[in-house]
Amino acid sequence: MTSGIKKPAAGTLISFEGIEGCGKSTQIALLAERLRAAGKEVVLSREPGATPLGLELRKILLDPVYSPDSLTELLLYLADRREHCRLVIAPALQRGALVLVDRYVDSTWVYQGFARDEVETSLIERLNRLVVGDFWPQLTFVLDCPADRGLERARQRNLESGVVGVADRFEQRHLDFHSRVRQGFLVLADVAKERFRVIDADREIAMIHNDIWQKLILQDAVS
Ligand code: TYD
Repeated sequence: MTSGIKKPAAGTLISFEGIEGCGKSTQIALLAERLRAAGKEVVLSREPGATPLGLELRKILLDPVYSPDSLTELLLYLADRREHCRLVIAPALQRGALVLVDRYVDSTWVYQGFARDEVETSLIERLNRLVVGDFWPQLTFVLDCPADRGLERARQRNLESGVVGVADRFEQRHLDFHSRVRQGFLVLADVAKERFRVIDADREIAMIHNDIWQKLILQDAVS
């Protein structure tokens, strides 16, 4: 079976990955601002929840009321991704835009596969390929920081946004799980060195941003 989603024409797809609280959203926003100032058409997106159907799936996926098994969870993330790819990523890349996504194929490999060891990562890899077709990221930044630092930041973020004491289903998991997630991204980055750039995210925001910018320039992704 083929994915049925047409090949991208001229755009560039860049994904951002990392544990909770690693600072992805801040960095993506800064990068988008700089790229737009340089005259690029930038599309910002995220998973789960970038489409109307995806938003419904996001509510289900992050609601602590449910406890789906790994396979059910995997299928829900893939459904979200398929919609995202078809309705947001494919059209943007076909018009030649630069698409920055907050989480994508590698989050599934790590969270539903590597970190839990219940669904084989080779199956996840195949399903990811089927779901996104040609829309594989050209470049992936892993924002790497110790799990306890990330969780602390995620808790802080919840406090500041007023959701006192309410962690989502993923934030409720133990530190060991988040350490496995961190390790999973590093394993992926080691296997596919040409696609991945690991960024030390345990630094000041401006330093991290400049590091990402330099690596993007080196990659010629913004020329
Ligand atoms: P979100 O609130 O967007 O958090 P973050 O700022 O950390 O990205 O929550 C997304 C959650 O979904 C996050 O805990 C990771 C998880 N996730 C998966 O488990 N598998 C996936 O394929 C994706 C895209 C996300």
